[in-house]
Amino acid sequence: MTTPILEIRNLHARIEDREILKGVNLVIPAGEVHAVMGRNGSGKSTLSYVLAGKEDYEITEGEVLIDGEDLLAMEPAERAAAGVFLAFQYPIEIPGVATMTFLKAALNAQRKARGEGELSTPDFMRAVRQAGSDLNIDSEMLKRPLNVGFSGGEKKRAEVLQMALLQPKMCILDETDSGLDIDALQVVSRGVNALRNAGRSMLVITHYQRLLNHIVPDVVHVFSDGRIVESGDKDLALQLEAKGYADFDNAAA
Ligand SMILES: Nc1ncnc2c1ncn2[C@@H]1O[C@H](COP(=O)(O)OP(=O)(O)OP(=O)(O)O)[C@@H](O)[C@H]1O
Ligand SMILES: [Mg+2]
Repeated sequence: MTTPILEIRNLHARIEDREILKGVNLVIPAGEVHAVMGRNGSGKSTLSYVLAGKEDYEITEGEVLIDGEDLLAMEPAERAAAGVFLAFQYPIEIPGVATMTFLKAALNAQRKARGEGELSTPDFMRAVRQAGSDLNIDSEMLKRPLNVGFSGGEKKRAEVLQMALLQPKMCILDETDSGLDIDALQVVSRGVNALRNAGRSMLVITHYQRLLNHIVPDVVHVFSDGRIVESGDKDLALQLEAKGYADFDNAAA
């Protein structure tokens, strides 16, 4: 069997003495898109932060492998270099740094970590303009400081732009669909689908079954009280939409 891109085994994590992740098990083989749905506060964003390496969390048990390597032993920058990318539920504003400059620094930092040379400025500009226009992000927006004053939907599109440029191996999208208008949802879904390939995996956190009509997942997981309590195919999302989470609350107890 080939090594899965992401393998999470019995992951427990706490913050300020409160246990949030209570035994997450999840395997995402290369090329697959897995959706995670679950109640507010069940720990979905916490899982994404723990994978991306945000400080503040204490891992008390379990392990996470990225391509067979120990992810939890890596610094956040090493995780990025290993191909882990998180599109934040609440994208961070970076005042004073033009989006274009930020993207170039992020891309070159990763290339350097992988032992590749810097992209020339013309090559970089071409790549950003192309990826930007696919996402309806114009060059005016690229000159503005990253996310500062961006509308909610613009921030989400900027996250997908970063993802398109960095070409991560493991894409984690935390509610990238929330706050998008109908057209933007199509644009973002198209952008995400364009990145689907046999060597790349995705973890898509969403509250809305609707998104999964656009980004059709291989597997849907139900997250409840800090762990995955049910997994199924895309019809599981339809079932959730119809019946809510009540059926799964006992499973978590
Ligand atoms: N610093 C903190 N101190 C205490 N509790 C925290 C802290 N950060 C997060 N939590 C709690 O962890 C729980 C899980 O939060 P998380 O953001 O992971 O939920 P979520 O599943 O992403 O929810 P949503 O669907 O609303 O985005 C929540 O109850 C939250 O209040
Ligand atoms: Mg969340």
